[in-house]
This record gives sequence, structure tokens and C-alpha cells, in this order.
Amino acid sequence: MDKRIVVGITGASGCIYASRLIDILCQLDVHVHLVLSQHAMKVIPHELEPLSFRKDDPTIEHEVLRYFYGKMIQYHGYQDFEAPIASGSYRTDGMVIIPCTAGTLGRIANCVSVNLMDRAADVALKERRKIIAVVREMPYSEIMIENMLKFTRAGGIVLPASPSFYHKPKTIKDVVDSVIARVLDHLGLESQLKVRWTLD
Ligand SMILES: Cc1cc2nc3c(=O)[nH]c(=O)nc-3n(C[C@H](O)[C@H](O)[C@H](O)COP(=O)(O)O)c2cc1C
Repeated sequence: MDKRIVVGITGASGCIYASRLIDILCQLDVHVHLVLSQHAMKVIPHELEPLSFRKDDPTIEHEVLRYFYGKMIQYHGYQDFEAPIASGSYRTDGMVIIPCTAGTLGRIANCVSVNLMDRAADVALKERRKIIAVVREMPYSEIMIENMLKFTRAGGIVLPASPSFYHKPKTIKDVVDSVIARVLDHLGLESQLKVRWTLD
């Protein structure tokens, strides 16, 4: 079976991380199942270069979807509980929520499954599959820290969007890659990203 990874994008800042991860997963011939939250649809146009249009523009959702449709991925609607990834009987190799809001992490940590993102995360946890939350918030409240602890104890990996700088990044992409490399490490995928610590 080809590798299948679920990628969830929430309404946290940092959708550039998701864009880069999806590009690399596609290069590695990984089958990507993509879910976006409604708030991701609102935040993405503020951050991704080709998507600079007005906040109240009704075509935003279509443009966001067109941006991701350009890639070799399988897209699922946020409320589509009939999607294969809503069931534990559909096998995947894990899930990455990137970037992950405090809100989505809170719902997952407390098993409050009201959309496909939450449900796919519940499935990953109950099936003991790899699930990585690239949490993006600062600072953290006590409730957020408790939710991260709950998620970790349930088998999830909190991998915050905390880039490293020892590879001397020159571009934003270099900075982003330092986070993506760690995500790929935890998914057990090899990449050619030159971001590892070395004294050479
Ligand atoms: C421009 C913008 C940036 C945001 N950045 C974050 C963030 O980094 N982390 C976070 O937890 N919420 C952030 N939010 C708030 C979330 O979008 C909001 O809590 C939303 O309800 C999350 O819904 P979701 O988890 O279903 O995507 C941001 C909102 C906006 C408009």
C-alpha cells in the first residue's frame, strides 16, 4: 500500500507550513488526504502569496480550494463524516494538523468530535496511529498546556511551530523547512532538506 497521510489545516497562523508539507509529501508520492477548517479558509488568504483578496470576498473558499486542488491530493469537506478517513477501518499512516489552533487541539484532547478534522484525529488516536499537532499559539494558557498534556498522554505528538536557526536560514522557506523536517522525521519519511545540526 502507498503511504497515506491525513493533513489537517486549521485557522492558526502559519498555513505556509501546510503548503510546504503538502508539496514535499507529493514529491515523496505520499497520498495526501486534506481537510481544512472553516477558519483556515478565512486565515489562509491573509498569508499565502497568490491569495491576496478581500476578507469579505465570497470566492475566497473557491480560491483556497483551487490553490490546493492544483496539487495531487484528495480533498474532503469539513463536515463530510462519510469520508474514508472518518473510519478506523480505512488505513492511513498517520495525521498531521498543521498549523493547529488551540481550539482544534482542545476539541481533540477532549474527544469533542464535531467535524471531520476532529473525527480523523479521534480515529488516529483510537487506532494508535501517529498523529502530530503542529501547534501555533503564543503564549500558552494553562488550559492549552493541559490539553497538550492530555493529547500527548493519549499518544499524540505536540510538535510546535518552533523553527530552529542553526542551519542558518536565508529565506522564509528555509525557516519553514526546519519545522517540516521534524514533522517528516516523526512520520518516518526521508527528505533531502538540509536542516540538520552539524558542525561541518
Ligand atoms: C489572522 C488570524 C490568525 C490566527 N492565528 C491563530 C493562531 O496562531 N493560533 C490559534 O490558536 N488561533 C489563531 N486564530 C484564531 C482561530 O482562527 C480561531 O480560534 C478559530 O475559531 C479556530 O478554529 P479552527 O480550530 O476550527 O480552525 C487566528 C485567527 C486569525 C483571524
